[in-house]
Amino acid sequence: MLDAAAPVTPQPESERPHLGNRLMRRKPVEQLVAEGGQGDGGALKRSLSMWQLTMLSIGATLGTGIFVVLGEATPIAGPAVWIAFIVAGLTALFSALSYAELAGSIPVSGSSYSYSYATMGELVAWICGWCLILEYGVSVAAVAVGWGQYLNELLDGTVGLTIPETFSAPMGEGGYINLPALVVVMLCMIFLVRGAKESARVNSIMVGVKIVTLVLFIVIGFMGIKAGNYTPLAPLGVTAISSAASLLFFSYIGFDAASTAGEEAKNPKRDLPRAIMLSLLIVTVLYCLVAFVAVGAMPWQDFEGTEAALAQIMQDVTGHSFWSVVLAAGAVVAIASVVFAVLYGQTRILFAMSRDGLIPKVFAKVDKKTGTPRINTIIVCVFCGVLAASIPLGQLANATSIGTLFAFALVNVAVVILRYKRPDMNRTFKVALFPVTPILGFLFCGYLMFELPGVTWAVFAAWMVGGLVIYFLYGMRRSSLATAEAAAVEATTEK
Ligand code: ALA
Repeated sequence: MLDAAAPVTPQPESERPHLGNRLMRRKPVEQLVAEGGQGDGGALKRSLSMWQLTMLSIGATLGTGIFVVLGEATPIAGPAVWIAFIVAGLTALFSALSYAELAGSIPVSGSSYSYSYATMGELVAWICGWCLILEYGVSVAAVAVGWGQYLNELLDGTVGLTIPETFSAPMGEGGYINLPALVVVMLCMIFLVRGAKESARVNSIMVGVKIVTLVLFIVIGFMGIKAGNYTPLAPLGVTAISSAASLLFFSYIGFDAASTAGEEAKNPKRDLPRAIMLSLLIVTVLYCLVAFVAVGAMPWQDFEGTEAALAQIMQDVTGHSFWSVVLAAGAVVAIASVVFAVLYGQTRILFAMSRDGLIPKVFAKVDKKTGTPRINTIIVCVFCGVLAASIPLGQLANATSIGTLFAFALVNVAVVILRYKRPDMNRTFKVALFPVTPILGFLFCGYLMFELPGVTWAVFAAWMVGGLVIYFLYGMRRSSLATAEAAAVEATTEK
């Protein structure tokens, strides 16, 4: 295992591999799999079943998107908002198929970062891992901020009090600190450090609560449907539907979370592909039904300016505020579970990157008692908690979608490369209609990326430049492949 603190053997430039070769060095699939589970000081525990993996993916996916973003997307798409969910879901589906194939072939914790390392080399893998920090680490902070808003709504509906803005918004947004966001991340940390099995149990309970809440909404909302609310279907045109789809893509982020648990799954090769596909199916069905019922029960124009639209619909249909409180309570649990599952995923991705030497070794340290990367979890949670509590996330939060789409696009490329380079590899799941499906997945991701506003692209570009600087200053020299190369050159020189 590479010691990040150890000095790197200086090599004369003439003896080093060519820069292009260094950036393209790949980690063979067999090596990735053989290193799987091994951390510094111990191995991760294999304790997760197929259902727990599915719950992990649903946990990371179903939250702010349906409870909050649906309300923002409806005024854009009109009654066709449920079609926008299908378009965003298709993008996720093509990429999910590629994820499923790779997760079944390379069942490690690094998800698309590791798949890129095996197929496109170190630099692309680093870029992918850096994008995953946007998908997981930054989005978790954004989601935690949304949690505070629903918590206030719940407190208002139950005890008639709300947390004052001074303590529920960061500086620059009218307050000093977003305490609820910090609290939810810290609560998640307490459960996460206890072990993967315990975490999975807590996660499954929260996922159960949020599914029941949405099913309740569908049943109650159905009674309030008025056929007239569905016409005209697309009053703002077809392009408006695709704009709404790129906004709603956020609600699918997280279905890949099971692929970060490859080293803690009992039977990863069999269960990871199933968990990824099943979770996507469940959330897509729920999203489309919720959106269809919501626009049927409330005219699409009324979504503009209505906070917590789903809660409002519950109240309007039943005539009792009790039901909107139930929905707010469900949303509080739902969003907390996204924070929880996404934090889990972030720690496991950093674990894999640390094991490869691209970030400091402390992230790969495994606690002997719990079999989890405890220090890693604490660092990630404190970092995300402080970020959520103190920074107005603004455009950085929007950038999570672009980072995720970029990582998904790479997974679609990786699946094609691996099929051609390693056709005979044992694959427990194969993408249907290859290579059409991954190509479509790539194109859909590119399309949705280009639908995002210019300012999001500017933030993304700045993020990437930061990532490249870190790689060239740190990872390129300290990666385990770099040190292995250095050792090989040294051995040759000594002969
Ligand atoms: N998909 C996650 C959510 O909607 C990020 O909260």
